[in-house]
Amino acid sequence: MILVTGGTGRYGEQVVRTLRKLGLEARVLVRKGSHYYWLNDTGCAFFFGDLLDPVSLRRACRGVEYLVACSGLQTETRANNHTTVTVEGHAALFKAAQEKGVRKVVMLSCLGVDRIEGVTAFDARRAAEEQLLASGMEYTILRTSLHEQFFLDLAWAVHDKGRAVLPSEGQNQIQPIASRDLALMAAASLDLDSVKNSIVEVGGAEVMSARQAFEAACEVVGVQPNATVLPSPALALGRRLGRPVRRYSHRLDEVAAWFENDFTVNSQTVKDHFSFPLTPLREALATSNEVYKIMRDPEEREKRMVHPQFYATVYEPGEAELSSMPLGPLPARE
Ligand SMILES: NC(=O)c1ccc[n+]([C@@H]2O[C@H](COP(=O)([O-])OP(=O)(O)OC[C@H]3O[C@@H](n4cnc5c(N)ncnc54)[C@H](OP(=O)(O)O)[C@@H]3O)[C@@H](O)[C@H]2O)c1
Repeated sequence: MILVTGGTGRYGEQVVRTLRKLGLEARVLVRKGSHYYWLNDTGCAFFFGDLLDPVSLRRACRGVEYLVACSGLQTETRANNHTTVTVEGHAALFKAAQEKGVRKVVMLSCLGVDRIEGVTAFDARRAAEEQLLASGMEYTILRTSLHEQFFLDLAWAVHDKGRAVLPSEGQNQIQPIASRDLALMAAASLDLDSVKNSIVEVGGAEVMSARQAFEAACEVVGVQPNATVLPSPALALGRRLGRPVRRYSHRLDEVAAWFENDFTVNSQTVKDHFSFPLTPLREALATSNEVYKIMRDPEEREKRMVHPQFYATVYEPGEAELSSMPLGPLPARE
């Protein structure tokens, strides 16, 4: 049994679909109120729990051989924040996994955690990595780049509001990765010897500037790439703001880091570990954008919805092709 945390998230959902496509048993840790029912068609099992609740984590880990940790936060809330979830929640998760005899942990982390300091989201992920290393369990940490949906969100902001707000010009070099490619890498990492007890930096097929990735997303959505770049004093002020909007300044800090630093990886190393061809960004954007369009259209959305009141599986596990399964909605945002 493979336990997946964050299975209702953007990376996590693709991980669950990939594991199920491979015919593997997956149990997804879901929070009450999560839109977990979009995974019904995959035939995965659900376990109701929370990284904030250590007892639920110990129970979720019963009978589990492998753990794939895809849980994370974008905007924090008072209770669900980087301290309580990213750091303490993952510490509790790894402790529970270790106590229950989990054989291996694959963790999704983020590029730059080893060099970007003073940005809460990066600091917290580095601390979570350290907890995993200290647990003594076998591990693979995939430090990943931004995925295509990050840029689609910006492009749809242009569509809806006429412009996106960027923290800087975005001339930094990045290597966005298709969320489905990352999911395949996570699944492969479960038993790939070359990544055993390793931290592996992964990115997508192409190196480009963050601005170019934003423009590609706008082209796919069919809008002009209108962006307002925050003037540095406004950004500095946003960063300095303390409570009660600390969670927004943390998110602003994180996005600014993605638009200010280079995040490229050694493509040969990625190829050496994972020998499948990587999806070009435009293709990843186009595929995910089809899902965005469906989810924005109430009629189309309803047609594809396995209604939450039917907590049932509509396909037998392994019966449906991954490509014919609905991709599901964007995860609930707080
Ligand atoms: N986004 C990126 O481009 C990016 C880039 C580099 C690295 N990463 C890494 O990948 C991770 C996942 O990213 P993502 O974009 O897939 O994030 P996401 O879409 O925001 O998903 C986050 C997942 O974590 C779950 N979660 C949040 N709080 C939880 C809690 N208290 N207990 C249990 N589960 C909880 C969420 O569940 P609910 O559905 O209940 O909210 C959701 O399933 C990040 O944390 C980061 O380490 C992401």
